[in-house]
Amino acid sequence: MRIGLIGSGGREHAIAKSLCHFPLKDALFVYGSHLNPGISKLATYSTIGSVQDIQKMEDYFVSNKMDLVVVGPEVPLIAGVSDCLRAHGIKVVGPSKAQAKLEGDKVFMRDLLHRYVKKGSPRWKEVREIESACDFIHEVGQVAVKPIGLTGGKGVSVMGIHFQTVEEALERVQTVLSQDGVVLLEERLIGEEFSRMAFVSDGIVSPMPVAQDFKYAFDGDEGDMTGGMGAYSNSNGSMPFLTENDLKESDSILQMTVDAIEEETGEGYRGFLYGQFIATTNGVRVIEFNVRLGDPEAINVMALLDVDTPEFLSAVADGSLKKESLKFIPQASVCKYLVPAAYPKSVDEHVLVDLDEGRIVNEGLSIIFASVIQRSNGLQTLGSRALAIVGTGDDAGSISAKIEKLLDRIEPNTLRHRRDVGDTRIIQEKVQKMEELRKS
Ligand code: GLY
Repeated sequence: MRIGLIGSGGREHAIAKSLCHFPLKDALFVYGSHLNPGISKLATYSTIGSVQDIQKMEDYFVSNKMDLVVVGPEVPLIAGVSDCLRAHGIKVVGPSKAQAKLEGDKVFMRDLLHRYVKKGSPRWKEVREIESACDFIHEVGQVAVKPIGLTGGKGVSVMGIHFQTVEEALERVQTVLSQDGVVLLEERLIGEEFSRMAFVSDGIVSPMPVAQDFKYAFDGDEGDMTGGMGAYSNSNGSMPFLTENDLKESDSILQMTVDAIEEETGEGYRGFLYGQFIATTNGVRVIEFNVRLGDPEAINVMALLDVDTPEFLSAVADGSLKKESLKFIPQASVCKYLVPAAYPKSVDEHVLVDLDEGRIVNEGLSIIFASVIQRSNGLQTLGSRALAIVGTGDDAGSISAKIEKLLDRIEPNTLRHRRDVGDTRIIQEKVQKMEELRKS
């Protein structure tokens, strides 16, 4: 099978590793915005290009006669790469442009849930004038201010976290309105967030183990929002702060959303769907949907995926997926990103990183490359999340401790990470927080 992969981040390195777990029978062609050294090692051919350039991706994958293309990031999906490749008879893991609006247009997503799913949303309002924002804020109290389109996980601001007063909320609304002419306001949700991702193939929704992303820059959820500093998952596939009913409810919302988007667009959904949920005292609510895998969550689940990945993804892409064919190793996982010190602020100076890969592997851990390139004198960071250390084992706490022990010895002083991802005490605090919320 000739397989194409779009993307060059940590998520795509994790997908590439899984695709190449057994020696590939044919070839892996990778198209991304930079040459990820981890992916390049696995790929038969790699090329660099913009993931917004549909024509270039079409030319590359068509001329190289792909059987299957796996799309990593959301940007090419929203631009319509799946439709384009499918028109050439190529199987694609990735929804169509019309379906990718689930991620690309937050009002479309809320409206779809409202019309078909009838659960899972907080109170929300599409706002085009400041007066209407004022009415909504006075009606619901605390709000989240969300630009409608893509923000790279960093554009949403929440009252009580990023700002405090109604005046500040209105200022933020005004800023988004003057840029976009429209903004989504949602009632603020209180609870614990979790990521439930699934493979979707023509109405069949096969969920992956639940993961929890650590989105803030520093330990204790301090600092700015990032793309995600790390994530963990547990051997039972759930989170200790979730009830059985919470999990059932999130899966029911995922299934109903897939049914809805398929009915709305008149075509089967074939690809990944990532529900970012929050468990609240009133039940599970959707924070947002993504039409791709989460990053870092993909690194966790791909480390546990226990299938012949090329065959499995091929079935996802041709609509023949059997739910029972999906298997994961029943273990916990922890992934910690190492990032430049200034991240998520952009950095002008890129640094060289010297990392002892052999030592990481000898400890039973693995390395995932993201925003780095190989130079003759070492790895050079590109400014975003550089690389991740990932481990699997019996429980998240002991994997986290093992990663810490290693990083104490080998972490380059130009990079930093969050020590608390998967830490036993932090997980216990989250359980207690949810228990207290449920009691109140
Ligand atoms: N982990 C957050 C995201 O992938 O959007």
